[in-house]
Amino acid sequence: MKICIIGTGYVGLVSGTCFADLGNDVICVDKDKHKIENLKIGKIPIFEPGLEELIVKNLKIKTLKFSTDINRSIKDSNIIFICVGTPTDKKNKNANLKYVYQVAQSIKKNINKYKIIVTKSTVPITTGDKIEKILNSKKNKNKFDVVSNPEFLREGEAIRDFCYPDRVVVGTNSKKANKILKSLYIPLVKKDSRYINTSRRGAEIIKYASNAFLATKISYINELANLCEKTSVDVKEVSLGMGLDQRIGERFLRAGPAYGGSCFPKDTKSLIYTADKVKINLSIVKSVVKFNEQRKKLPINKIHKILGKRLKNKKITFLGVTFKAGTDDMRESPSINVIPYLSKKNAEIRYYEPTGYKDAFKKLKNVKFFDKIKDACNLSDLIIIHTDWNEFKQLNFKKLVNKKIIKIFDMRNLYSIKKMKNNNIKYFSIGR
Ligand code: UDX
Repeated sequence: MKICIIGTGYVGLVSGTCFADLGNDVICVDKDKHKIENLKIGKIPIFEPGLEELIVKNLKIKTLKFSTDINRSIKDSNIIFICVGTPTDKKNKNANLKYVYQVAQSIKKNINKYKIIVTKSTVPITTGDKIEKILNSKKNKNKFDVVSNPEFLREGEAIRDFCYPDRVVVGTNSKKANKILKSLYIPLVKKDSRYINTSRRGAEIIKYASNAFLATKISYINELANLCEKTSVDVKEVSLGMGLDQRIGERFLRAGPAYGGSCFPKDTKSLIYTADKVKINLSIVKSVVKFNEQRKKLPINKIHKILGKRLKNKKITFLGVTFKAGTDDMRESPSINVIPYLSKKNAEIRYYEPTGYKDAFKKLKNVKFFDKIKDACNLSDLIIIHTDWNEFKQLNFKKLVNKKIIKIFDMRNLYSIKKMKNNNIKYFSIGR
């Protein structure tokens, strides 16, 4: 099929490349000329394991192209995926849809034959209705369908999540559009995954409801972790015991710091806004947002508990600074709160980050990036395991730190308490 992807961020780039890899003819459009020029030579602006190779491969066999010409690209395509950003609106916490509506205006001018317009960006319920209104005109009558097809891609696992989806959700009442999208997705829907056709508004809400539930699940185990600490229980046992219940499931039950990223914080707030607008009080989701906000203080409280009130000249090393492993994304990462605080306390902060130096800290004093773990850890007063990259999972801290007293704050519970104790390492973690 001839597909046009509008917006080459995480969602657009991964979706377009994977559709191309399925043998479709894909053109990815962005208004950022510099970005498009780089993409044309296989240089990608984001860190997503496996994506660069897949782009280069499909550029070579010409199933994948990049362009800044939105009009031509829409005209030449049958299915248009809207994958532009829907950032949180500063004033009302709702998703800001100005880029989505701009794209809809461009599409309106280029409906030269039947087209399916698909919102893959996360958009509030009824956005599809609004796009339909924008596209409606005498000339365009019966020449398009607007469909909701939310993505469920995790950063760092996006290609895997696209190619092996638990489910593909397509929201439309148009039999024609559903038939076409089903044939597009059928190669991905294997024995243990499902293609489901829902109403358009149903699909729009499924995305928010799924992310809000995952955020709830994480906050639930994080809250239980607080109880576990007070009752000398290891929260990892609780996660295991709970997760083996098929109705609960073991994924997204790892206790840790406040959840971050670009989606959970944004989508929970947007869902609450949508519900408030129709006078429905999503009290559970509101409590999740409130709890997560408070949890942002946890790392600082723990650091003071471990090192005491005075942090001046204390050498503190961060292993990882992004919001989670497998990504270079700093959005809503715990380190964004913690490192500036430590800098103000005149601690000496070092960080090793697998995805490299981060601009987020460039204006701060006493914050230094190291490209080797051993240099970052040498003679540190405290090692903070901030993300769960594989390379952090079997470190020989005695060799790395070179100090008699070694203190570790493991925010991801990667190590065994017993083993740390046997090695005379002062080990602190979460919920244990
Ligand atoms: C999320 C959703 O998982 C994905 O389906 C949606 O399309 C986009 O938003 P992402 O934000 O990339 O994906 O990351 P995810 O892996 O879901 O982690 C989100 C946050 O939860 C991170 O801060 C992570 O550290 C935290 N987390 C995740 C936990 O604290 N414990 C867990 O068990 C899992």
